[in-house]
Amino acid sequence: MAVIGIESSAHTFGVGIVEKGKILANEKMMYPISDKGIIPAKVSEYHAKNASTVIRRALSAAHMGLGNVEAVGYTKGPGLGPCLEIGMLAAKTLHEKLGIPIYPVNHAVAHIEITKHLSGFADPMVLYVSGGNSQILSLAGGHYHVHGETLDIGVGNMLDNFARAAGMKPAWGSTVAKFAAGGRYVKLPYTVKGMDFTFTGLLTAAIKLLPSSSVADVSFSMQETAFSMLVEATERALLLNGKDSVILCGGVAQSLRLREMLATMSASHKKRFYVADNQFNADNGAMIAYVAERMKESGCTPLRSDLTINQKFRIETAGVP
Ligand code: FE2
Repeated sequence: MAVIGIESSAHTFGVGIVEKGKILANEKMMYPISDKGIIPAKVSEYHAKNASTVIRRALSAAHMGLGNVEAVGYTKGPGLGPCLEIGMLAAKTLHEKLGIPIYPVNHAVAHIEITKHLSGFADPMVLYVSGGNSQILSLAGGHYHVHGETLDIGVGNMLDNFARAAGMKPAWGSTVAKFAAGGRYVKLPYTVKGMDFTFTGLLTAAIKLLPSSSVADVSFSMQETAFSMLVEATERALLLNGKDSVILCGGVAQSLRLREMLATMSASHKKRFYVADNQFNADNGAMIAYVAERMKESGCTPLRSDLTINQKFRIETAGVP
């Protein structure tokens, strides 16, 4: 019997199916992002329109029908309220129609746990980087402990904002990486405080440089500076806590340069390093299904009529089975 997971915290509507930790399906549809960024009401309309299509696609990819599904999970948060609502309603429909238990999942826990599961590492130091989040964490006492994090915006947000200011299309981090190829280093503000870091000063300085320097040089320098900050703080957390491995996850984990820098740092300390296939770094339903299955197997009490979302669902407050 399988578990279905629904992810809808931002512009992706994802549906995954998992059975005993094995991923049988991971289907998604993504709202096309315009230059104006994400308008939550528009995205939630898109999710509502496509929810049943993505669920059908996932069932067909897993070669099963709804009769084979024994539980459902959904993203409770963090994320955009109107988008989270649609995922919760889709999961609620399955829960009521099929009479199966329903589990609320923390989005960040899901990114980390699916990566940890695929890595096979027992207790890694985690660098979780996405649009809205940039955190260094490890598991302690049944929940994730945040060792360090951004004190302002997420690194993904910084890259997207810069891409927009520089007139790149599409305006997101992977485009900055393309422009960065062949750039030369120019000095930019580097801010690490213990294991915390900030990105708005770096973003402002990079945008100010745009009229006088080449886009390639500024893209390259901003990326090198931001990623060095993340790697320095991760290295400190890794060594202070005596972990034997590092994992990288979240949307910005798709960056080849960040992977390279973390792999080099890990190898220099003889620590193992893992980053998952990009389908799990981007938002996806399989990670929600995986955690929901773990919650079910661990005897977590499923929800009844108390279904909620939480746009600011902090990872420390989410129990990890
Ligand atoms: Fe995410």
